[in-house]
Amino acid sequence: MRFDIISCQPDLLDSPFSHSILKRAQQKGLVEIHIHDLRKYAVNKHGQIDDYAFGGGAGMVMMIEPIDKLLSELKAERTYDAIIYMTPDGQTLNQRTVNQFSLLQNVIILCGHYKGVDERVRQHFVTHEISIGDYVLSGGELGAAVLADAIIRIIPGVLNDESSALTDSFQDGLLAPPVYTRPAEYKGMQVPEILLSGNNPKIEEWRFEQAVERTKQRRPDLLDD
Ligand code: ADE
Repeated sequence: MRFDIISCQPDLLDSPFSHSILKRAQQKGLVEIHIHDLRKYAVNKHGQIDDYAFGGGAGMVMMIEPIDKLLSELKAERTYDAIIYMTPDGQTLNQRTVNQFSLLQNVIILCGHYKGVDERVRQHFVTHEISIGDYVLSGGELGAAVLADAIIRIIPGVLNDESSALTDSFQDGLLAPPVYTRPAEYKGMQVPEILLSGNNPKIEEWRFEQAVERTKQRRPDLLDD
């Protein structure tokens, strides 16, 4: 899968993709990440990519021209399955949407800044608008990193233990059950007996019950779905 991430603060994206699982996914050739500096497509030699809003008001608006130029360059090279705009007024990200995106080949992620992008970018170029939660970040970069991370980790071959992505919270519509590791007893705190029993069908049953119980208590809205 190929990601082209468009940003006016590309340095913010260096770190998330150069560590651990996301780094390994690129080294294994499963994922390509290309970060593009929007300022290289500025409308003048001062590096201008934003301007005042028509009609007045505080805050700058990202101009259509630099975005159009960069998108046109990318689209001339290959077909894109999605052009995703990161914005707090987008559709709130969930595992179902992550799963759908993980099936795509080429994806562009556009990071917003300031007051956001000229509405014509959203109307004419963007295919999906994604928010990572009901709060406002100072830019779309961290949201883009969250989105890409969630997608990349479920691409087959990225995690060493394939089953671990399948048993994540949300993957079956439930929160994950509690987990324990050694020692079986620590300062009087015990691991549930069933997990030490070796009885796998019973353990799976227990885990399912725990997952349902945890979901009922913490996220009953997931059970409505
Ligand atoms: N940009 C600013 N806030 C955001 C959010 N909550 N999700 C995605 N992009 C954003």
